[in-house]
Amino acid sequence: MDLGIRGKKAIVCASSRGLGRGCATALAEAGCDLVVNGRDAAILAKTAEEFRSRFGVTVTEVVGDVSTPDIQEALLKACPAPDILVNNNGGPPLRDFRELTRDNMLEGVTQNMITPIELIKAVIDTMAEKEFGRIVNITSLSVYQPIPGLDLSSGARAGLTAFLAGVARTVAAKNVTINNILPGKFDTDRIRTTIRFSAEKSGESEEAAAHKAAQVIPAKRLGSAEEFGKACAFLCSSHAGYITGQNLVLDGGLYTSAF
Ligand SMILES: NC(=O)c1ccc[n+]([C@@H]2O[C@H](COP(=O)([O-])OP(=O)(O)OC[C@H]3O[C@@H](n4cnc5c(N)ncnc54)[C@H](OP(=O)(O)O)[C@@H]3O)[C@@H](O)[C@H]2O)c1
Repeated sequence: MDLGIRGKKAIVCASSRGLGRGCATALAEAGCDLVVNGRDAAILAKTAEEFRSRFGVTVTEVVGDVSTPDIQEALLKACPAPDILVNNNGGPPLRDFRELTRDNMLEGVTQNMITPIELIKAVIDTMAEKEFGRIVNITSLSVYQPIPGLDLSSGARAGLTAFLAGVARTVAAKNVTINNILPGKFDTDRIRTTIRFSAEKSGESEEAAAHKAAQVIPAKRLGSAEEFGKACAFLCSSHAGYITGQNLVLDGGLYTSAF
């Protein structure tokens, strides 16, 4: 399907690896020019070069922590009027909530709630003026289904979801949409770290631990960043203008619910 976004400009935050990279790949394949971001300059440069050579699109790299005002400014300088914004970031590490300091909590809320809101504030009016805008936030299945130890991440992302539910309705008439994608378990570096950790603890191989993790998922496998990216690109497409304020769960059936 032609997604109808060839030549559109997209900022994809935290996109040198993993799910963000999956989104950037699918948008580049659809013909979007990209601003990509990550803290490791070498990995980001390699990713950007791959997009240029595979898809022939223009790719600008912005190296640094997307949660900081400087890097947000650099992203917007590289692309002052994006048609598409994909908000992504790292998340707080697994930690018992009793151990969280006030600074930890402020950092978590900054990463997973304030940062996307700041970027949306900066781009939404121009999107509305142009009568085209697509904003996708990568959140987590933990917004629906708590994961002990990821309470800060879940809380900040749930806050973002509620905050944007109202905002989405204020720009819907201008063909600007805001949606969230909630990943379950995707095979990225982040999930591999968790799998390696449990493999070390139980003394089994990494592959055995990965297999075990997949068995609790009705699809019996981890998701791939590629399929995640394609769903994101559809939400960013010209065909998705009537989908807004939604939470798309991508989890192979892991979240058990009829509605
Ligand atoms: N994978 C899953 O199954 C899953 C499930 C639920 C939720 N999530 C959430 O989805 C998001 C992406 O996860 P992932 O699995 O793709 O992680 P990942 O494989 O670790 O990739 C994270 C990407 O974000 C970049 N990044 C991290 N912190 C950043 C920062 N402060 N500023 C700029 N770039 C940053 C990383 O590059 P650098 O390290 O070079 O900065 C990398 O490109 C995370 O918030 C995660 O909590 C993932």
